[in-house]
Amino acid sequence: MVCLGNICRSPLAEGILKEKVIKRGLDWEIDSAGTGYWHVGEPPDRRSVQIAREYGLDISTQRARQFDALDFVGYDLILAMDESNRRDILQLATSESDRQKVKLLLDFLPAHFGSNVPDPYYDDNGFQFVFQLIEDACEKLVEYYLTQGQLN
Ligand code: 4NP
Repeated sequence: MVCLGNICRSPLAEGILKEKVIKRGLDWEIDSAGTGYWHVGEPPDRRSVQIAREYGLDISTQRARQFDALDFVGYDLILAMDESNRRDILQLATSESDRQKVKLLLDFLPAHFGSNVPDPYYDDNGFQFVFQLIEDACEKLVEYYLTQGQLN
């Protein structure tokens, strides 16, 4: 799960998907990162921690890290929160196989195909909407890979 700062959106996505995967007993490794370096080592934004807590998730122990080309080796699927994140990730790809791994998270939600998860950093009221959007997309993602997809 990749956004810009790895403090608002992708920590929520990491926490939400991890919970779903654990509940279903799936052996998937989930992590998040930011394309930028500014917040490396920091915990998630307090507003993300708060909204996650309201939905019963504790994301407070996560620490921001920067997306790295080695993530193409370690992961089968790389989900960008928005189009600019996707562009930055693709800059680091070195093969067609790398490029195939990169998708927009919201491409798993038919009604939001091709859309960005809005950046809530400057909008205190945006976190609830962002949580719900990520939650819906993660549910569809899990269903997709359980029913028809293969992570290659
Ligand atoms: P995120 O949000 O990419 O969802 O973690 C942001 C966090 C920090 C900044 C921008 C977006 N920033 O400019 O510092």
